[in-house]
Amino acid sequence: MALKHQAPRGTRDLLPGEIERWQWAEARARDVLEHYGYREIRTPIFEEVELFARTSGEASEVVQKEMYRFTDLGERELALRPEGTASVCRAYLQHGMASLGRIHRLWYLGPMFRYGRPQKGRYRQFWQVGAEIIGTPAPGADVEMIALFVDLFDAWGFKDLTVAINSLGMPETRARYAEKLRAWLAPAREQLSADSRQRLEVNPLRVLDTKDPDELKLLGGEGGLGPLPHLIDLLDAESREHFDAVRAGLTALGIAHEIDHGLVRGLDYYTRTAFEVHDRSLGAQSALGGGGRYDGLIEALGGPPTPGVGFSIGLDRVLLMVEEKGFAPEPPAGGIYIVAMEGTRLVAPMLARALRQVYTVDYDLEGRGVNAQMKAAGKGGARAVMLLGDDEWQRGEVVLKELKTGAQQTVPLDGIVEALDRMLMGTTSEMEIP
Ligand code: HAM
Repeated sequence: MALKHQAPRGTRDLLPGEIERWQWAEARARDVLEHYGYREIRTPIFEEVELFARTSGEASEVVQKEMYRFTDLGERELALRPEGTASVCRAYLQHGMASLGRIHRLWYLGPMFRYGRPQKGRYRQFWQVGAEIIGTPAPGADVEMIALFVDLFDAWGFKDLTVAINSLGMPETRARYAEKLRAWLAPAREQLSADSRQRLEVNPLRVLDTKDPDELKLLGGEGGLGPLPHLIDLLDAESREHFDAVRAGLTALGIAHEIDHGLVRGLDYYTRTAFEVHDRSLGAQSALGGGGRYDGLIEALGGPPTPGVGFSIGLDRVLLMVEEKGFAPEPPAGGIYIVAMEGTRLVAPMLARALRQVYTVDYDLEGRGVNAQMKAAGKGGARAVMLLGDDEWQRGEVVLKELKTGAQQTVPLDGIVEALDRMLMGTTSEMEIP
């Protein structure tokens, strides 16, 4: 029977069993971000359409084809956020954060929305963790960003990543490069897909984003076009100096990186540094994360010229790899299951409530027999059972049984915590049992 309701195409439910890996990955990320001294920021999930159109670029794929737009009951033109950077910059301006300090280091984690064709690693609702440094044009900020980017991957178990890096220069340089690219691609126009031919007219840099294997060959220099022109050859002196300083900073930190002349990023707000990391085993949607500098973005929102640099990482893709490669540790072993008898049925909830201050505790809600309770304890993955036998309870005792070893001991009520700690944690907690 077909179900009447399913999660909308391109969205997923994260169920127990999978969610533990997400929680682990999120906790690792928070840990790294906090050690770097970044502060969390949470912005709305929807914003004015105009915010994204102005920053990501009217002609960008994200704005043209992928935005979830809607008009609310007050006739406002809104969009589910396709990315986080524009919102962070809007919040920075709206709350006058410049007056609170010159440099702000911020991070965020949450769902983003893009209407694309769902496939492995591409969803319509996906999660990003991202970080931004607002307020400094210094190449040192780009270096710190890339170090943080790499250290997040490291914390999830990805070792030996190579960061792809490029410089997109300033808008004038990009315009000159676009012309150069157009001229370079002109002889191969007929071999390009309809999409790429259109991009050639509107924004030739976007042709470099192609996933088409034949087009990739052309871009790789096959088919008589000769080598792809390099944007960094056109950089102004200051941008060149910036790029060299970023690379030197990365080398000093021992961060493996390679220049990728085809790296142009999918959003239009970038200036100078751009970077990404890919895992090709993911298939066509191989970017695990990316970012770069956006020195004109805040000004485009009507603020004073304010430089920024940041990145976001796609958690769905990261989690796909984490699962495939077995990076996540086993979830912590289970807790205690309280097994009650006829005369102690009312004691179980009371004892569970007290013990839940420290331990993970479960018990039977339905008044079932001892055998059913023991079965439930094993099925639920409990490490120990606390048996509230009628006679023992009368004497002020309970029976503790470790399920793995079968080891069993009778413990006086005031010795429960100590015995459980020894059994479960090898330490002693301080708490009072009423
Ligand atoms: P982005 O490259 O568009 O950059 O997205 C960053 C990452 O989000 C991608 O590398 C990918 O892992 C993930 N991602 C994007 N779209 C999807 C999707 N449909 N399904 C699953 N994962 C996806 C940004 O969003 C910029 N805000 C990054 C940035 C921050 N630049 C400066 N600061």
